[in-house]
Amino acid sequence: MTIKKAVIPAAGLGTRMLPITKAQPKEMLPVVDKPVIQYVVEEAYHSGIKEILIITGRNKRAVEDHFDRIIFPVKDEGIERLERMLDELSILFVRQKEPKGLGDAVKYAKPFVGDEPFALLLGDNITIPPCIKELVKVFEKYKAPVIALEKLPKERISLHGIIKGEEIEDGIYRIEDFVEKPKVEEAPSDIGIIGRYILTPEIFAYIEELKPGRNGEIQLTDALKVMSMEKTVYGMIFNGRRYDIGDKTEWLKANIELALENKNFQEFKKWLKGKIT
Ligand code: G1P
Repeated sequence: MTIKKAVIPAAGLGTRMLPITKAQPKEMLPVVDKPVIQYVVEEAYHSGIKEILIITGRNKRAVEDHFDRIIFPVKDEGIERLERMLDELSILFVRQKEPKGLGDAVKYAKPFVGDEPFALLLGDNITIPPCIKELVKVFEKYKAPVIALEKLPKERISLHGIIKGEEIEDGIYRIEDFVEKPKVEEAPSDIGIIGRYILTPEIFAYIEELKPGRNGEIQLTDALKVMSMEKTVYGMIFNGRRYDIGDKTEWLKANIELALENKNFQEFKKWLKGKIT
């Protein structure tokens, strides 16, 4: 049982990134030399997934344009690498009719997913190394939905879905409860959901039953909560790095850290050292 399909919701309004996101999607913000959404598609690709559905919405046309095949009159290493990847991928798009929340966006993937388990990667998070690759391994072992988790500092708890769970082996949890963006004092733990999931098509029936939750939106976390009462849902602590590009500080950190590691930006590294000392 392996994962062949990935769904990438990229329909969020990007309110925490305003005014940058007034007229451009947050998924198209540059991180060093590529837009965020390209990192996410590359993560699926490097995890062995070749069929991708991107869920877009109003203001997101640039996301579709980015994955078009066009010939530029110049040679560019970055474009050539992207083209080689696109040769192997099938990327489809569907448009969420109105911004009613992540749960509602995921619902649009039902016909694409069919009866197979699938990977869900939020289009505004970058993980290094590819988190989905690790989640697939856990899914293959437990043959049940599995969600990537991270221990969060206090000030970031109310920005995430938070879980309560029992650690059944090192870093693997059986999840007992889910709460979307609780106040710190009401959070059941400091373990948050980081935008990488392996789900089964059963999730769609749970989403369909939902009433609007936090912020008046249909929340995927609420569907997972109900599902976890009837079926086992696992969590995996991701020990790599993760940047939430829906947040200005995280976006800046991603740019600086990844530029410092990139051999094409040695000059930038030297310049930054001079600024700091
Ligand atoms: C979404 C999910 C939330 C999760 C977060 C990770 O929220 O609803 O549970 O913790 O992504 O980035 P958003 O950041 O889209 O508001």
